[in-house]
Amino acid sequence: MLINRRTVLTLLAGVALSLGLSTSALARQAAAQAEPSAPAAGQPILVGHFGSLTGSEATFGKSTSNGIRLAIKTFNAAGGLKGRPIELKEYDTRGDAGEAKLAVERLVKSDNVVAVLGEVASKLSLAGAPVCQEAKVPMISPSSTNPRVTEVGDYIFRVCFIDPFQGFAGAKFAREELKAKTAAILVDQAQAYAVGLSEQFEQNFVKMGGTIASTQRYSGGAQDFTAQLTAIRAAKPDVIYVPGYYTDVGNIAIQARKLGLTQPLLGGDGWDSEELAKIAKDAIEGSFYTNHYAPDQPDARVQDFIKAYRAEFGSTPDGLAALGYDAANILFAAMRSGASLEGPALRDAIAATKDFPGVTGNITINEKRDAVKSAVVVEMAVSDGQELPSPRYVKTVSPK
Ligand code: PHE
Repeated sequence: MLINRRTVLTLLAGVALSLGLSTSALARQAAAQAEPSAPAAGQPILVGHFGSLTGSEATFGKSTSNGIRLAIKTFNAAGGLKGRPIELKEYDTRGDAGEAKLAVERLVKSDNVVAVLGEVASKLSLAGAPVCQEAKVPMISPSSTNPRVTEVGDYIFRVCFIDPFQGFAGAKFAREELKAKTAAILVDQAQAYAVGLSEQFEQNFVKMGGTIASTQRYSGGAQDFTAQLTAIRAAKPDVIYVPGYYTDVGNIAIQARKLGLTQPLLGGDGWDSEELAKIAKDAIEGSFYTNHYAPDQPDARVQDFIKAYRAEFGSTPDGLAALGYDAANILFAAMRSGASLEGPALRDAIAATKDFPGVTGNITINEKRDAVKSAVVVEMAVSDGQELPSPRYVKTVSPK
């Protein structure tokens, strides 16, 4: 087993704190539960996950899955829910809305999971959420930031901030730190996330005294951005806002530099993937994005998580992994505190989440079933001894 007893104790702290256990009570309880003989062996409790495990957003689903699996492993090693282990049922959405809906139907109607975790992409969460709402099975999106997702109904939650705040954070950074007076926007018109975030960036940037010099559109998966980037070059903006997903952003960065555009690109959490730098290489160096977490934040909670994740998967967790981990732990805490595992009782327990000490910050679920949290801004920078740029923490933007 790769997780040792100490790691279990550390990781359990988050779950236990939210249950109101004191640290020493927690230590005693975890010590008792984490003995090798104590792992949960009762009848499994099924939890669902739907995510893009393949396709151009494959790292979103894989990272989320890893985060969830680490949370499950830790929880089960410590005795599970009164001796019952959590078992994961997982389906690939392939980044497709139709597949996402089918996946959630399978989880809810055939597998009879007690709750569903996912999706990452807002469009795919919007496709799956009505199925959960209808069946009264709670769904927690770790990372979908479009406001409409939780508006689907009272069984739909998220543990991340929403795009009106993320757009504000990006605009504030552009105006105050980059001193940008003008911005161009290049938006994926096929993604609810990108469309919503570009609107929020624009509103906030203009309110802060900036001007939008040009708005250009593409559809995810496009290969040639010459026309849009040529129009942007003519508008001479100080910064280019590209709120898309990492594969497209990587291609856009390469083509922008080839066309002689030297301005920083600025984006949102959709950039968060190791693949971004693998695709764009130095074309993405010196660009910035808003995100949920940065691996070089010094907090002990973040660093303990990174250590455990590396031991398990051999790589540094991205924001999706951290959010998947937090979403799963919040669900498990609600399973413990709720009256039962029935949908309505579990729903009420999730809705009551307050000050949960997550890796991505303290999480309180508000009356709209969203989390209100800080965002971080990271820069794609090349660190000593590394060839490719990677995200480097720049600053934290607190909720308005
Ligand atoms: N927020 C994005 C969406 O709603 C998904 C995402 C979250 C991607 C975090 C990367 C990191 O579509």
